[in-house]
Amino acid sequence: MTDKTFLPEHVGIIMDGNGRWAKKRGLPRNAGHKKGAEVFGEISRHCRDLGIPWLTVYAFSTENWKRPKEEVDGVMNLMRSYLKDMEKAKNEHIAVRFIGDKAPFDKELKELMEKAEKADVKDVVTTVQIALNYGGRDEIVHAVKSIVKEAALGNLTPEEITEDTISSRLYSGIPNVDLIIRPSGEERLSNFLLWESAYAEFVFMDVLWPDFTPTDFDAAIEEYEKRNRRFGGV
Ligand code: IPE
Ligand code: IPE
Ligand code: MG
Repeated sequence: MTDKTFLPEHVGIIMDGNGRWAKKRGLPRNAGHKKGAEVFGEISRHCRDLGIPWLTVYAFSTENWKRPKEEVDGVMNLMRSYLKDMEKAKNEHIAVRFIGDKAPFDKELKELMEKAEKADVKDVVTTVQIALNYGGRDEIVHAVKSIVKEAALGNLTPEEITEDTISSRLYSGIPNVDLIIRPSGEERLSNFLLWESAYAEFVFMDVLWPDFTPTDFDAAIEEYEKRNRRFGGV
């Protein structure tokens, strides 16, 4: 069992391996995304049960548009049906936010995202940030644009720019992530939470995301609890 005194406050998950999971079963890649979406729901509720206040999941990157249209449409349709089902989740004490550039999404999806973000969730335990059309570099570019606009208006000088100036302009409402879990055997960030992960701990796991269980999550937390976080100190 995990030790609740050392729980991370913010966990990030790169939900990877859906395609390989489907391929192993001779199924279309979108079947892997469907099972992956179910696992996402289960792990969100598990975080809530553990009392972890922030969970950020990587659902679709700024680079994932390179995939075949059928697959991209499949992922967006899953997101739509998840959001249409949100009514049921109102009493689950889980709030939902989106991070990423919403500009390319159609009106219906934008409205569903907005409705989910505004939902009146009672006694929130866990806030889930869904990274959709999210890129860590894009997030920093977005922050820089906002700073330059303010400077052009004469409201900000170079000397006034601090780390907080950037942190406060990120898509993500939480500037630091404590633990990043990546299943699927890949050991890279793939443009996830670049700024926020400056002092994150990483746990890479061989399991594919659609096979990921609450027990795997607990194993990652146990590994995290063994780490000695020094933040540059001694
Ligand atoms: C992650 O699983 C989900 C998305 C990127 C949308 P993948 O689809 O990348 O699965 P693999 O890596 O091909 O197995
Ligand atoms: C990262 O996985 C993005 C998501 C899980 C949404 P990818 O499968 O896109 O990453 P690469 O291409 O293996 O680096
Ligand atoms: Mg992948």
